[in-house]
Amino acid sequence: MSREKIIIIDFGSQYNQLIARRVRELGVFCEIVPPTAPIESINPFETRGIILSGGPASVYQKGAPICDPMLFSLGIPVLGICYGMQVMAKALGGNVEHTRWREYGRATFTITNHGPLFKDIPKNSISWMSHGDKVKRMPKGFARIALSGNTSIAAFANFEKRLYGVQFHPEVAHTEYGKIIIRNFVRNICGARADWSIRSFVKETVSDIRKIVGNNKVILGLSGGVDSSVAAVLIHKAIGRRLACIFVDNGLLRKNETRLVREVFQKHFKINLRVVDASKEFLGALRGVVDPEKKRKIIGRLFIKIFEREAARIGNVKFLAQGTLYPDLIESRSVFGGPSATIKTHHNVGGLPKKMHLVLIEPLKYLFKDDVRRVGKELRIPPEILGRHPFPGPGLAVRIIGDVTEERCDILREVDDRFIQILKKEGLYGKIWQAFAVLLPIKSVGIMGDKRTYENVVAIRAVTSIDGMTADWAKIPYNVVGKISNRIINEVTGVNRVVYDISSKPPSTIEWE
Ligand code: XMP
Repeated sequence: MSREKIIIIDFGSQYNQLIARRVRELGVFCEIVPPTAPIESINPFETRGIILSGGPASVYQKGAPICDPMLFSLGIPVLGICYGMQVMAKALGGNVEHTRWREYGRATFTITNHGPLFKDIPKNSISWMSHGDKVKRMPKGFARIALSGNTSIAAFANFEKRLYGVQFHPEVAHTEYGKIIIRNFVRNICGARADWSIRSFVKETVSDIRKIVGNNKVILGLSGGVDSSVAAVLIHKAIGRRLACIFVDNGLLRKNETRLVREVFQKHFKINLRVVDASKEFLGALRGVVDPEKKRKIIGRLFIKIFEREAARIGNVKFLAQGTLYPDLIESRSVFGGPSATIKTHHNVGGLPKKMHLVLIEPLKYLFKDDVRRVGKELRIPPEILGRHPFPGPGLAVRIIGDVTEERCDILREVDDRFIQILKKEGLYGKIWQAFAVLLPIKSVGIMGDKRTYENVVAIRAVTSIDGMTADWAKIPYNVVGKISNRIINEVTGVNRVVYDISSKPPSTIEWE
């Protein structure tokens, strides 16, 4: 697929995905690539502009990531942001110095030469700084275009060559006119057409899938989560019944999950769906296992085995579709390594073995989570599915501390159901990243009526987060916490105590196991 785009070179800044978001909000497609990507991979006919991201390194540090200096001679406009500006300065013969005082946070920034980058922006405004180094001497042919509180060269430009650098971060919301700066660069300086939209994405992807798949068959492991659901409906729109979705009920799912998946995908979308009830196999394999990593491994392996068995039954399959998203790709090849991806051995359908000899199709691999939700909306997937909280592959097994039995799964399903029902009723569900209950391996004494009880304790957990990497415990109002506790204890047999988890990540994790 050939289309105009902006390339973002990833020097490891935490804000990189935000840059990409800002560019796509302008209706322009963009890709994030590592600095090690060969310059030949930049297609000059498609690439309208290049943005060098910020990053945590110092340009003089040993092994600091740099880019090919040829990048500045391609005749393509370049905008360097923070570390990206310093990389540009150094590559073109300027000088960067280490400052003793880091400039961090809001800073007043004063434009000294508006030019096309600062068009429509007042002379003085607030910008967001986060740097220790700064450009001391500009390369030849460059002029200063802004200064800030303690940086005399807060932005520079070589107007003729269309090379720009800003020391601050225009992509973050704290930079007052940041969106305008990015628009000025992308639309005016690069002249990129605004022709990327969710609608055009759906149209082009459907036509690409048709071409690639031809008359062959595709299988997809549908989990009922947002990504695999959107991938399923999108591929189904392209090839109809030649897509077979496999949904494995491992007995560790939420209440009524199989019913919901059948209703939405089989009844409503008329997708060719195979539901495999493998709960006995999973619970049998988990009997007596208490170690969380062992639980994950057992569940992961068994999933693959069952998936392969089912795929063999379908027969003659050539393609395997997956709902991989862009952040998964970027993180796995990031210059500084993916953040916490390896801390837990996450079980995802991505673990399906190469020996299946299937060709991968990943139609969402250039999308961010919110793009995927918008694609889902365009495809009319109901909000019940699109607005769902993430749910771990190993399901309730990592939310039942200790031994996982059918009876304990049933208790936890009921507790979780009451908790989520109340959050939805109170209008809180959509404001929370993830909410769930955990069944603890201890019992507590209680009193019900005149009788003493000795029953289970459950913990309820709700967190707010942007991406699941860090999280804060949700400040659910006390009266709502009270309602949750009352309903659970009154309605779920076997539970007589509810506690609320008030830990943030880090140092805790979102899940308990
Ligand atoms: P933690 O507990 O590591 O969770 O803070 C971060 C996010 O990842 C989800 N999670 C998993 N997802 N398989 C998955 O597919 C797993 O084994 C797994 N463990 C945690 C978790 O629910 C949260 O959204």
